[in-house]
Parts: sequence; structure tokens; C-alpha cells
Amino acid sequence: MSLTTALQSRYVRIRARTGELFDLLTEEAYYAQPIDLRHPVVFYDGHLPAFSFNTLVRKALGGPSIDPGLEKLFARGIDPDERESPLGGCGARDLWPSRATVRQFAGEVDRRVLEALGRSDLDRPGDPYLNHREAVFTILEHEAMHQETLLYLWHRLPYDQKRRPATYAPRTEGAPPSRDRVHVPAGRAALGVNGDAVEFSWDNERPAYQEDVPAFDIDRHNVTNADFLAFVEAGGYEQPQWWRADDIDWLRRERRTAPPFWHCHHGVWHWDAMFERLPLPPAWPVFVTQAEASAYARWSGARLPTEAEYQRAAYGTPDGGVRRHPWGDEPPTAEHGAFDFFTWDPQPAGSHPAGASAWGIHDLVGNGWEWTSTPFRPFPGFVAMASYPEYSADFFGEEHFVMKGASPVTARELIRPSFRNWFRPRYPHVYASFRCVTPHD
Ligand code: AVJ
Ligand code: FE
Repeated sequence: MSLTTALQSRYVRIRARTGELFDLLTEEAYYAQPIDLRHPVVFYDGHLPAFSFNTLVRKALGGPSIDPGLEKLFARGIDPDERESPLGGCGARDLWPSRATVRQFAGEVDRRVLEALGRSDLDRPGDPYLNHREAVFTILEHEAMHQETLLYLWHRLPYDQKRRPATYAPRTEGAPPSRDRVHVPAGRAALGVNGDAVEFSWDNERPAYQEDVPAFDIDRHNVTNADFLAFVEAGGYEQPQWWRADDIDWLRRERRTAPPFWHCHHGVWHWDAMFERLPLPPAWPVFVTQAEASAYARWSGARLPTEAEYQRAAYGTPDGGVRRHPWGDEPPTAEHGAFDFFTWDPQPAGSHPAGASAWGIHDLVGNGWEWTSTPFRPFPGFVAMASYPEYSADFFGEEHFVMKGASPVTARELIRPSFRNWFRPRYPHVYASFRCVTPHD
């Protein structure tokens, strides 16, 4: 009889969900490359097991290889830098291993990772990889994050390469909530976290520190498709005064005239949802790049929130406290927001009043990541993590901006105040929404 440890069942569950996501695709999609600057689908089938194996079994525990060629081939993805030229493309079928080869490798990895997760010495104080079981949580959270990558890749595939679940029923009903801003007085924002305070944190979340934030007014709800349509119809995409110089070049080069998920069909705006094209749902948060969010904010006489403002709006309280979630201490449920794969697409803004923050601000966690105006930089005292030293360090600087919160397909494990996501300001594929801020006078 073999006793399954809690970590083994977490690994089994997360692998099962990855399997279900791959099952949404037809066979033909396996070598498709839905996004030019990302590898084809086959890469991700190999990358998830390869990363877990390389990080936990090889690096942290010093175990032997399975197949050094595949371990290297699948080791790392790429940063979607708009200036790089596309990889692979039509030749993908010849450049990558067969599906059977990848599946066999993945099966062997799963056996060895499960064996490793059954060990009793995974938490080794002082060991660079196993202090606080760092390598274990690194592989679990890496896979959870990539489940979102998979879905935003799947999003770009033609509908006939996806199997629509029988239960698929996007919620598009309802009028957008009325626009209104909430006053948040001057106070301190709690950013980051100390490693000892939580089960796991990525290196870019550490350490905890506080920042003074002047008073501001912030949108109670996300900017919706209906709101953003006013900007599009007012000619916002043709008016350079709202855009940064690099953003204008991008608009022209890519011939962008509307947000990435929008499609104009017979003169009517539609939204390309996961398994179906829908008439533009007016109440859904608009999903846009940081460039488009910033332009809209400027056009409307406002700006994007900083990371510290988001943090205060989401987790601060009027009496100076800090919450575990915007709604309080209760663990996240479907009542609190659209996250953890409860839905494939967004839902109308304001559908989760139970998840509102202490200030009455809605949907800060769930229904789309929230763009900030803060470049992705290390917190003071940052130290790169041993298990994955390039994870954050390779991306710090002015080229990426912090996103906070969660999208409909962000796993619940990643929902914590300190979690930081980041992307380039013109990367059009992520499920990112925004809200605006004005100074309080
Ligand atoms: C943190 C979501 C920006 O997808 O590029 C996965 C996560 N890093 N494998 C990304 C990640 C390496 C990363 N983001
Ligand atoms: Fe990865």
C-alpha cells in the first residue's frame, strides 16, 4: 500500500488540469503556433514536465537524467519581445519531436517527480533549493501559471481546432455598471511579503515593505467594453496625443484600430470569446494592452494606478489595516470573483459584490488582471531565488509593467496580495483589464 502525500496529490491534480486543457484541442492544433512570439503548442506539452524535472529532480535533488536532449529542448520559453522574429512557424512538425515522444517523456517525468514528492526530506533548512521546500512550490506554481499561458494561446486558435465543452455558456447579459470613483485617503500601502510569512512566494514578491500613498480616487469598476467603445468611436486610435511615441509606431505597424479581442464583422463589433464569436458584451471589462489602457486613461483625463495604489485599494482598510483578500479572510470562492477557471471568458463588471474591497471597489481580484503604471522592478532587498534565478531577474527594468489581481483562468494558488505578474506594454494576448485613477483635491 502506498500512502499519497499532500504534495503528490497536488501534483497529480495540477497535471490532470493541464491534461484537460490539452484535451480541449484537436490533434491538428498540436503543432500550431497561435502566437508568433511564443513557441508552438507542442513545446508547452514538453516544457511543463521538463521544468518540473529539471528543477526538482535534477537541480534540487541531484537525480539522474531521463533524456538530456529533451530536458534541454523544453527547458525554457521566450519572452514575447515584439522586436524578435517569429520562431518555427510552418516547419514546426519537423522541428519538434512527435507527440508520442513528448508524451512518453512526460510520463517518465511524472513518475520521477511523484517519487521525489514522496520523500520526507523535501524541506531542508539552509539548503538553497529546499529551504521552505522552495523547489517543490516552484514547480507547482510554474505549472499553474502556464495553465493561463495555455489558455491565452488556445484563445488565438481557430474555433475548429478547439473542442467546445458542452457546458460552455458565456455570461454576456446586463448593462454596464454606472461609472463612479471611490475616494481612498492618503495612507500606507503594504507591498511584498517576507519569505517566512507564507507557504511560498516568488523572489520578486520579497521582502515586505510599506509605501506612503497620497489620496486618490479610483474607478469602482473596471473600464468596460462599452466605455472603451466611446474612445474607439471618438477616433482615439487615430489621435497621437493620447499615445506614447513607441505605442503610435506599434499602432501603425500592426494596423490596430481596436482592442485585441474585438472584431468588426459586417459593421458590428464582436468579441472573440474562447469557443465562440459573440456580439460585443458591453458590460465585460475591456481586455487591452497597457498601451491602450494608458491612452484611454489620458483621453478621459485620468491615469493608470500605480502598483502601490492598487495594493492600497485592494487590501487596505479605512482603519489602517491590511486584508488577506479584498473581501477579507475567507478563502477565495466563485462568489468572490471570476478566477480559478470558474469561467473561460470574463463576466459582467460588478457581478461579484461579495468580492469587493473594504472601500467598495469591485473585481480587483478576478475577471482580468489589472494593469498598473509601475515598471517591473525588484523590491528593495531583492535576492534571486536559487531554484529559478532567471524567473524575475531577466525581466526587471522599464520594458515590462506590473499587473495585479487575477484573470478568469488564474489558478487559486496564485491568488495572494504579494503575487506580481508582468508583461510588455504592447503584448496583446493576456487577459488584462484596467481602471483609472485621478488625484484627489
Ligand atoms: C510571470 C506570467 C510573466 O509566462 O512569461 C512561466 C511566467 N516564467 N515560465 C511568463 C513564467 C517562466 C511568466 N509570467
Ligand atoms: Fe515556463
